[in-house]
Amino acid sequence: MSQLLYQDRIIKLVESIKTAGKVLALTGAGISTESGIPDFRSKDTGLWHRYDPQEVASIKALKKDPKSFYALNFQWWDTCLRARPNKAHLALAQLEAMGWLLGTITQNIDGLHQQAGSQRVWEVHGHLRECYCLVCQHDYGLEQLRHRFHCPNCGGLLRPQVVLFGDRMSEDYFIAEKVMSGCQLLLVIGSSLQVQPVASLPYLSRGIVIINKEPTAWDEQAQLIFREPASKVLWDLVNSMEKSTGPYY
Ligand code: APR
Repeated sequence: MSQLLYQDRIIKLVESIKTAGKVLALTGAGISTESGIPDFRSKDTGLWHRYDPQEVASIKALKKDPKSFYALNFQWWDTCLRARPNKAHLALAQLEAMGWLLGTITQNIDGLHQQAGSQRVWEVHGHLRECYCLVCQHDYGLEQLRHRFHCPNCGGLLRPQVVLFGDRMSEDYFIAEKVMSGCQLLLVIGSSLQVQPVASLPYLSRGIVIINKEPTAWDEQAQLIFREPASKVLWDLVNSMEKSTGPYY
């Protein structure tokens, strides 16, 4: 199906969304690269080609050496915190506002969907707004971690609200699984679909469309594939949908 001319694929995507009923988006780091945030597995530029995730993004690494863990992660987190939504985020928020998209399940912790105006966002890998103490569970703003790694209340180690390798999944993930029930069309945007359990969520949708620069293991099951940049595809999609409002309006 991806042999179809781009414009014909956009027309088919518009038709699929208009006839689908329950439509959700599943986004990954690739939707934020055009905001200046590197993704993890893009050939050459992905973060995990430079660092071993188990060494820099696991709960084990945090407990072993909090100083190095935070020194390295704040480099990437500050890029996320400085970033602004790009046209892909804005288009998804517009699609939701027009009633064609129920909401967005995101693996991203950068908060750019909410900044773009998306109202229903499930952050399955957590977020960068808070941290908490591993001992007394006391919550703090993330900025606390710039000053100290230990809890002012009890001295326990502080950790971010980001899902690290070795963690159980977030509450939002279990909510997203339930939200997926009855999903007729899942728009997978900017994800290599390599990390479980999120990579199995497409099983819960009747149909999937993939908007991803590189191949994924789900390409065979996709009814449409776009290799063009997410911002271009989603902006062109919204401009083609403009004339009408959807079931969630
Ligand atoms: N438009 C479309 N696709 C893009 C763009 C773009 N502008 N930029 C990058 N991509 C694609 C890349 O080709 C890549 O296949 O986005 C995909 C991003 O895949 P990953 O880097 O693996 O990111 P993601 O799927 O979100 O990773 C899942 O892995 O390390 C964990 O917690 C981390 O949430 C992350 C999870």
